[in-house]
Amino acid sequence: MKNITVIGVGYVGLVTSAAFSDLGNCVTALDINEERITNLKKGIMPIFEPGLSEVVERNVRAGRLFFTTSYAEALKDAEFVFIAVGTPEGVDGEADLQYVRMAAETIAKTMDHPLIIINKSTVPVGTGDWVSDIIHENQPHPLEFSVVSCPEFLREGSAITDFMTPDRTVLGSEDTNAAERVAQLHLPLRAPIMVTDLRTAEMIKYASNAFLATRISFINEIAHICEALGADVKEVARGMGYDKRIGHHFLEAGIGYGGSCFPKDVKALSHMAQIHGKHPQLLHAVMEINDYQRRHVLLKLHDVLGDFKGRIIGLLGLAFKQNTDDMREAPSTTIGDYLSEHGATVRGYDPAARDAAKRVMPYLELVNNPYELVKGADAVVVLTPWNEFKQLDGQRVKEAMRTPVMIDGRNLYEPAAMRELGFVYHGIGRGYNTGDNS
Ligand code: UDX
Repeated sequence: MKNITVIGVGYVGLVTSAAFSDLGNCVTALDINEERITNLKKGIMPIFEPGLSEVVERNVRAGRLFFTTSYAEALKDAEFVFIAVGTPEGVDGEADLQYVRMAAETIAKTMDHPLIIINKSTVPVGTGDWVSDIIHENQPHPLEFSVVSCPEFLREGSAITDFMTPDRTVLGSEDTNAAERVAQLHLPLRAPIMVTDLRTAEMIKYASNAFLATRISFINEIAHICEALGADVKEVARGMGYDKRIGHHFLEAGIGYGGSCFPKDVKALSHMAQIHGKHPQLLHAVMEINDYQRRHVLLKLHDVLGDFKGRIIGLLGLAFKQNTDDMREAPSTTIGDYLSEHGATVRGYDPAARDAAKRVMPYLELVNNPYELVKGADAVVVLTPWNEFKQLDGQRVKEAMRTPVMIDGRNLYEPAAMRELGFVYHGIGRGYNTGDNS
């Protein structure tokens, strides 16, 4: 049993706190947001993450998981301190490290015994050294500490599983003894543990996310070519995926990636490259293709409907992906904003992201289910691949609509079947984009 402190109780910090306590450690999770901590003490989660509240509740009840806003309380018995604060996108794509700085400064001023400080947040290459300098500069009197990079590889919507069954744990430090001690914390996960230097560990995180984003933009580029050449990108991806070097995962064409990671991390990596005199052409292309996907869906909709003024358009799914309520960089915001600005009535349905969506899309007319969404609508745009959308009653949807137009930004449905039902159906890369049914 180890004493662990986690600074930052968001998507990464709360999952990390809950999971480490579930492994039998004593964990204190700190956030400077009083309301968030007060709610957590009442069992109210700040985020929608399947299975999280059960893990939190179980470990609070077992006396292994505590929440506080006090650094003195949080660091009192700590051996390991994870920094899991937000690193939002800053000016021209550079990661904004103000919260990391605040955490490092406060740790330095509060610590009264040696600590191992672990960067869990996604931070630019070299941040580990920067954190070290901040701590040295802010300690009232010198106290031993080490900095270790331990990047997170958690996907929203499956974060608990991803933590408990990781493909790998990556650790980076100039102090191999500290890295070994952090490795011990991860032994129960029974996954490969890689120990390297700080910068390499930080780079592994960015390179991993940039590669995953590249896969998505790659298959989306293939989708565009498929539309011109009359091939079906879903079948193309299936045929490609049998090659073990390619695989079937993460090769779904659609509206493109969103969320708090890929957009920010690809930009941050590109920025790091450029300020060091490199020209990340591929990363630029990945971002360009991703940005175009949203325009591509709007162009398809415009091809079919013409003017958006006075039209009722339903957005089926609002969150950036399924099994989350996270609206950060969600394609629905780009699509909805454009439609609203061009005179359309924009309706939205999402199983989880209702309040979160309304906060960023105040014009949105929220409904309670897909069938309400399509009632009298001129078009429906599929933006989030929630499971509950996969077996909709197509006949009922078609009959409810004023005009049966569907732009399927997630290729949830089959063009031939939708055509049979009488829809004007457009998927992404599902064959000829001739404007009739593709
Ligand atoms: C991602 C990484 O997967 C994770 O390892 C990292 O720690 C954080 O960023 P996340 O952004 O939560 O996780 O979700 P993910 O499931 O990776 O999807 C990212 C985006 O890509 C979503 O917008 C999703 O809709 C999109 N996507 C994913 C596709 O468009 N096609 C795919 O085949 C897979």
